[in-house]
Amino acid sequence: MESQSKINLFEPASLGSIELSNRIIMAPMTRSRAIGNLANDLIADYYAQRATAGLIITEGISPSANGLGYARIPGLYTKEQITSWQPVTKAIHDAGGKVFAQLMHTGRVSHKANMPSDTVILAPSAIAAKGDMWTDAEGMQPMPVPVTMSVDEIRNAIDEFAQAAQNAIDAGFDGVELHGANGYLLEQFLNPHVNQRTDDYGGSIENRSRFVIAVANAVVNKIGADKTGIRISPYNQYNDMPAYNEVYDTYNYLSNELNKLNIAYVHVIDYAARATEEGMKLLDSIRSNFTNTIILNGGYTKERAEEVIIAGIANLVSFGSPFIANPNLPHKLQHNITLNAPDSNLFFSAGAEGFTDYPAN
Ligand SMILES: Cc1cc2nc3c(=O)[nH]c(=O)nc-3n(C[C@H](O)[C@H](O)[C@H](O)COP(=O)(O)O)c2cc1C
Repeated sequence: MESQSKINLFEPASLGSIELSNRIIMAPMTRSRAIGNLANDLIADYYAQRATAGLIITEGISPSANGLGYARIPGLYTKEQITSWQPVTKAIHDAGGKVFAQLMHTGRVSHKANMPSDTVILAPSAIAAKGDMWTDAEGMQPMPVPVTMSVDEIRNAIDEFAQAAQNAIDAGFDGVELHGANGYLLEQFLNPHVNQRTDDYGGSIENRSRFVIAVANAVVNKIGADKTGIRISPYNQYNDMPAYNEVYDTYNYLSNELNKLNIAYVHVIDYAARATEEGMKLLDSIRSNFTNTIILNGGYTKERAEEVIIAGIANLVSFGSPFIANPNLPHKLQHNITLNAPDSNLFFSAGAEGFTDYPAN
């Protein structure tokens, strides 16, 4: 077996049943260019420009009309949406890349003005996220009190994730990543301050984890474990996720359960965890509990990425914002070329500016 110390970022790796040309992953990033909740030619160009990543993980794509909390984010739950993604996956594959669709249900991080009619803002409990949400029609608006999901609505959401995963495969994606991070619906179930249910989906660690595991299990049954990954962010407080005492035990349990499902990867946003000794210990526990691929993310440089791969706590590392302004990021990292800085004013604007107009090199 090749010794870990010889492995570097620019060598191929396998993930589930696919081969990646390198270990530099493009992290999922919402870019709000999906007018009408559809992918389009501009989005195809954007991802094709970044196809030298070992794997592209797309922006969050909603598995349900109820999950479209942000303005101009795409969906994967109608025929038209599936069709709109086909040229995108083809463009990435033609350029030699691989791509997973990130399935993101925003839950309570939402506003009706961003959603189609006949939708409901759902969450584990009727507790609003503190903070405002951008809407194209009404500007910044406070996030509303969501509706507590009934058990039927929970089962329906699980089915929606599974169907969206199948839709992703039909649209030509190599797999899906479940967005269990950053305070969206899956993480809303994990956090005991946001999930105050007293049924089988709230209370104990096992109960709070039940929805996430059920979604992962349903997706695995639909498209296969080798095509399924999940993103988590232990100790995250973004999107009004208050700190709680059982973070270590929750994610220790969850990573063991995810390992039983034999999914392809766990993608950990680790910057909050890295800030404490307990968090560092949790990263080690996740690594030892979960035997398939671990992807780490959060402010990584080339040097730090190489360190965590050599240390064996990550197999792959993902980069978010560096990919925005540096489409050919692997090449730049390999040759130590200075990186362009992205313009954050254009992160979520509509149109090509700040999206497809960054120079290739
Ligand atoms: C513009 C922008 C949009 C983002 N959208 C998403 C998203 O849709 N899903 C997600 O899981 N993370 C999202 N993130 C977080 C990134 O995937 C990543 O975790 C974060 O940028 C930290 O990595 P970095 O330091 O390499 O940028 C977004 C980040 C940025 C900058």
